Amino acid sequence: MPAPQLFTDPAAWQARCHAARDSGVRLALVPTMGYLHDGHRSLLREARRRADQGGRRGLALATIFVNPTQFGPTEDLSRYPRDLTGDLATCAEAGIDLVLAPPDPDLMFAPDHQSWVDVEQASQGLCGASRPGHFRGVATVVAKLFNLTRPHLALFGEKDWQQLAVIRAMVRDLAFGIEVVGMPIVREADGLARSSRNAYLEPGQRQSALSLSRSLFEARDAAAGGQRQSAALVAAARARIEAAGARIDYVEVVHPHTLQPVAEAAPGSVMLLAAFVGTTRLIDNTVLQ
Ligand code: PAJ
Repeated sequence: MPAPQLFTDPAAWQARCHAARDSGVRLALVPTMGYLHDGHRSLLREARRRADQGGRRGLALATIFVNPTQFGPTEDLSRYPRDLTGDLATCAEAGIDLVLAPPDPDLMFAPDHQSWVDVEQASQGLCGASRPGHFRGVATVVAKLFNLTRPHLALFGEKDWQQLAVIRAMVRDLAFGIEVVGMPIVREADGLARSSRNAYLEPGQRQSALSLSRSLFEARDAAAGGQRQSAALVAAARARIEAAGARIDYVEVVHPHTLQPVAEAAPGSVMLLAAFVGTTRLIDNTVLQ
């Protein structure tokens, strides 16, 4: 696969994407923060597949930008892992045509930036409770990437279930006219959800991190076996994670779209959790069938 064309200047990217769209080319976008892994890879490949339609080749697009506005003051912005060379190779392999990777945050958020997108309800609770302002930063950068790119569709992972709900609500409420595609969670062979933050885990911590996915699989099995009480499902998950030495942020069973807690799990309910392994905050979730 040829290397994708790299853009560092959002204005040049905008001109290129808008011209393509105006000439009838179909655009599929995957926004990322880079340090790409198999989870991202599945989104990139699907973007390639869905950009091409009816025998016409579209443009598969990826953005790589560690967005400072979605990190809290005590979070890992400065040490967030980066590897642009590796990421461009991954994009090439997946058949991505164009990559936007602004090297300087000021190119996306000028010092006098003052406009924000606040998706009120979907941003509350869960990660929104422990990361104030996080989803405002996510929604704003994604809105900006949507305006810069004007894609026909954009792909996001279900690993960030609440983020996906926030983006779906924003696209609907603000009439972006973009198809939002949610993609299943990609896991390591042992079940750990792929994440750029897994790079922080030392071998012992990685073992402890396995308790997150294991507790979710256990809950899924228990629900399938007839245990409907959210409190019981949550208590079992909490016990397993705590026994592995991780510090729980939240474990909840919620409605898949409203993200409101449910007392009884119904088919389609989602168990979502976040926990700290050492100083690394990991999230994961599963649908309860
Ligand atoms: P990032 O964490 O780099 O993730 C980019 C996309 O990859 C997101 O849609 C995320 O849900 C998806 N993804 C990550 N791990 C995955 C996995 N194991 N399986 C499937 N999909 C996975 O999410 C962000 O960046 C940012 O918040 C962003 C949307 C780019 C805005 O800055």
